[in-house]
Amino acid sequence: METEGKVIKCKAAVAWEPGKPFSIEEVEVAPPKAHEVRIKIVASGVCHTDWTFLHEVGKTMNPQPFPVILGHEGAGVVESVGPGVTKMSKGDKVIPLVVPQCGQCERCLSPKTNLCTKNWEMNQKCLLADGTSRITCKNQQIYQFIGVSTFSEYTVVPEDNVTKIHPDAPLDKVCLLGCGVSTGYGAAVNTGKVESGSTCAVFGLGAVGLAAVMGCKAAGASRIIAVDINPDKSEIAKTFGATEFVNPKEHSQPIQEVLRKLTNGGVDFSLECVGNVGVMRSAVEACTPAGGVCVMVGWTRMGELTLVSEDILLGKTLKGSYFGGWKSAEAVPKLVQDYMSGKLLLDEFVTHRLTLDQVNQAFELMITGKSIRTVINM
Ligand code: APR
Ligand code: ZN
Ligand code: ZN
Repeated sequence: METEGKVIKCKAAVAWEPGKPFSIEEVEVAPPKAHEVRIKIVASGVCHTDWTFLHEVGKTMNPQPFPVILGHEGAGVVESVGPGVTKMSKGDKVIPLVVPQCGQCERCLSPKTNLCTKNWEMNQKCLLADGTSRITCKNQQIYQFIGVSTFSEYTVVPEDNVTKIHPDAPLDKVCLLGCGVSTGYGAAVNTGKVESGSTCAVFGLGAVGLAAVMGCKAAGASRIIAVDINPDKSEIAKTFGATEFVNPKEHSQPIQEVLRKLTNGGVDFSLECVGNVGVMRSAVEACTPAGGVCVMVGWTRMGELTLVSEDILLGKTLKGSYFGGWKSAEAVPKLVQDYMSGKLLLDEFVTHRLTLDQVNQAFELMITGKSIRTVINM
């Protein structure tokens, strides 16, 4: 059946309220407006940020963006495009982008940042550029998480929030480049600028942290210390290039002291991939005062980060990294090609594959530390 120009009825996982499980619903997805693209989502990774938003951040927002369709690590095929879209057409394989790249705003033109301002404010409110959404359910407007929503068989996003990728790319793998893997890998190679021969510590070994480990390895780090409170992460960390594993729970001293002792004064680079202000402080304190660099990658709005000011004064650097610092629309297709040519691991992140009906189970696997990434095959 030809769907172009028509409302599509399909299945989606709707979060009606913060902190509650998802329910699978039939939703209506409107045709794309000008400069928008409607995508048939083929696969979506389940990222900790979805969980953080559902259980923490969403309820602190005013207005609360609920009901919402979460999911932001997806890949799919263009079903139709709205008027004025020139960069892609029906049938193209694409990855939706949580950070757009319009190519024209002041920030897109600056080499210092990847935080394109186009659609930013609305996307943060979980709406599309015009302040509405294209998805309804039971006659209610459904918010679109970061303007994306990949836990739906179809979604609509602005053309600057999507990028065309290689036609042979396996969507059920490269979806991970829509968030977690790009975020962690880029935090090491772009933001941290990890140096060859350096010593690194990566805190938190989910997909984001393991991708950071992979980035440290690609940058030529000679010691990569993987840190996690879950002992099961030791082996997988080594697959991605970790040279050592430290479990903070197995030590009576704070982890930063353990790391400073292990490294004769502190690591050159530390990356926080948990999203916990206590761990962020440990990551700063684990760095060497001799020019150590700490990169904050994990996302939270719980608590405040406190630091000993002298730590920074004496010469450490604290940096933040969002979407790995990548200029999204141009970088993601290249990362896809890097995977296809064997330069980047993706398959190793995927520990579970489930269907959309099983999305609550996917979060259970993440929270109990049993999965690295679950990919939802739509
Ligand atoms: N110290 C070390 N590791 C910890 C700690 C701690 N105090 N607390 C939790 N962890 C570990 C968990 O055991 C788990 O292995 O952090 C890891 C987090 O992994 P996932 O839950 O799979 O999260 P991921 O999707 O990788 O995202 C990590 O990045 O984008 C952000 O919002 C996201 O803040 C989240 C972070
Ligand atoms: Zn821009
Ligand atoms: Zn994510």
